[in-house]
Amino acid sequence: MEQKWWHNSVVYQIYPRSFCDSNGDGIGDLNGIRSKLDYLAELGIDVIWLSPVYQSPMDDNGYDISDYQAIAPEFGGMEDMEALLSEAKSLGIRIVMDLVVNHTSDEHEWFKQACQSKDSPYRDYYVWRDAREDGSAPSDMGSIFGGSAWQWHEETQQYYLHMFSKKQPDLNWENPQVHQEVHTMMNWWIEKGIGGFRLDVIDLIGKEIDEGITGNGPRLHPLLREMNQATFGSHDLLTVGETWDATPEIAKLYSDQDREELSMVFQFEHITLTWDQGDKWSPLPLDLPAFKQVLTKWQLELGDTGWNSLFWNNHDLPRAVSKYGHDGEYRVKSAQMLATVLHCLKGTPYVYQGEEIGMTNVKFDRLEQYKDIESLNFYKVKTDAGVSHQDMMTALGENSRDNARTPMQWSAEPQAGFTAGTPWIEVNSNYRDINVESDQRSETSIFQHYQALIKMRREHEVFVYGDFIPLFADNKRVFAYLRQNNDQKVLVVANFSAELVTLDLSSELPLKGLSLGALLSHNHVASLSAMDTKSTMTLNAYDCFAITLE
Ligand code: GLC
Ligand code: CA
Repeated sequence: MEQKWWHNSVVYQIYPRSFCDSNGDGIGDLNGIRSKLDYLAELGIDVIWLSPVYQSPMDDNGYDISDYQAIAPEFGGMEDMEALLSEAKSLGIRIVMDLVVNHTSDEHEWFKQACQSKDSPYRDYYVWRDAREDGSAPSDMGSIFGGSAWQWHEETQQYYLHMFSKKQPDLNWENPQVHQEVHTMMNWWIEKGIGGFRLDVIDLIGKEIDEGITGNGPRLHPLLREMNQATFGSHDLLTVGETWDATPEIAKLYSDQDREELSMVFQFEHITLTWDQGDKWSPLPLDLPAFKQVLTKWQLELGDTGWNSLFWNNHDLPRAVSKYGHDGEYRVKSAQMLATVLHCLKGTPYVYQGEEIGMTNVKFDRLEQYKDIESLNFYKVKTDAGVSHQDMMTALGENSRDNARTPMQWSAEPQAGFTAGTPWIEVNSNYRDINVESDQRSETSIFQHYQALIKMRREHEVFVYGDFIPLFADNKRVFAYLRQNNDQKVLVVANFSAELVTLDLSSELPLKGLSLGALLSHNHVASLSAMDTKSTMTLNAYDCFAITLE
């Protein structure tokens, strides 16, 4: 495997709307991000993944783009974007743009043209079908945001396809002109000096709509190779695809260097384990052995071919500390533990804004407090189908995307220092306790723990390229593994529970004959000095450490 700059990078995801508001209109913006670049440089990250900042009617907070080459006025102007790029660059930070090309906004010029008539040269940029004989939609395909994936267009008497909201019509990737337009636009951004692309729901672009195939369609990989050749392939950029249904076999198709498609993909198998039969509105408790088994499979299968992206959360998912850790008494320790487990795995780690200070889920009391189109649509779909208001509010509290979208908590000032005005979505009421300023002052700072992990990865190549060896696979409370290369062996142990755990290191074959060396990272584990590989060790709630073995 050829070594790449993004193998030992750490990516920080910014959801611009909720990061920092520079002008008091309640919406985060590019100048807000610029004002926080020093903060990000201090954390030590190498790359920012910027969720969409393009011109958009914001039906899906920017994932509905009406002009790919303009910035949404609420986020700033192109000059602010250029300033952000160059200031970030001077700090050694690259910016990865979110590329949303499965669909556009219905307010994109292409779609407006396409709606003019069936003969418009833009008609075939989108997916149109006649009604069935009884006038109903061409198929029963459902939208990912609830309801039918087909919307009737009265003026031209056809349905158009929208896998997401009806304001997000799907582009027709069977049309070579669409490829051309998208490639030209991508090259325009590459010219501006961006660090790469995060490719939104990219596994949908090879769809065969009349066969009912949406994800992983037959044309997907040829389309990506074509895109690679026409755009980023010759520029050494980071490209990461969002691929909900990827298996390790599929992920290798995307990320095997020899295939010249993408750098890596986001797989979601560990995430959907807590969704009952794929339904995020029926959340399940975490089954740690199953969770470890999934992540272990991905670690081993993408060992020499392909590359993993490592994440616990993003702008679509609940907060990691609430989902996989403990957001009460053990919030700090469990946030540090989760960070350790993730950053010591093989792959490129992603940090979602606020994760580095242990921000938690919001759990709003009233439906009106939620803003996300998916949450609001599904509240209706589910309550119409008989789910009670209370059960749906509980499900939203666990899995609404708004858990990740409440404003970044900078300080104990009003509105958490996010805005001088009224934020577009309410700040989490715990902001007086949980915020950047108080975390950084704390003796057990989560931020400093992340900072140390990021530095550690940079200093020890074993974390980047070393082999991964699972340990204690069946243990219901402990996540443990070994990383090793020719020079170094590192043992990573984490108590994923609030219980006291005893662990007999001598029971694990890969540890035989080794003794403990230098402690690289830990979260204030009390019993460390008494540890050795021959005796039983005790781990308190959410204890974790990484230690060299000799
Ligand atoms: C991706 C994005 C999500 C968005 C959807 C439609 O899943 O991460 O936020 O709503 O695509 O673009
Ligand atoms: Ca603003």
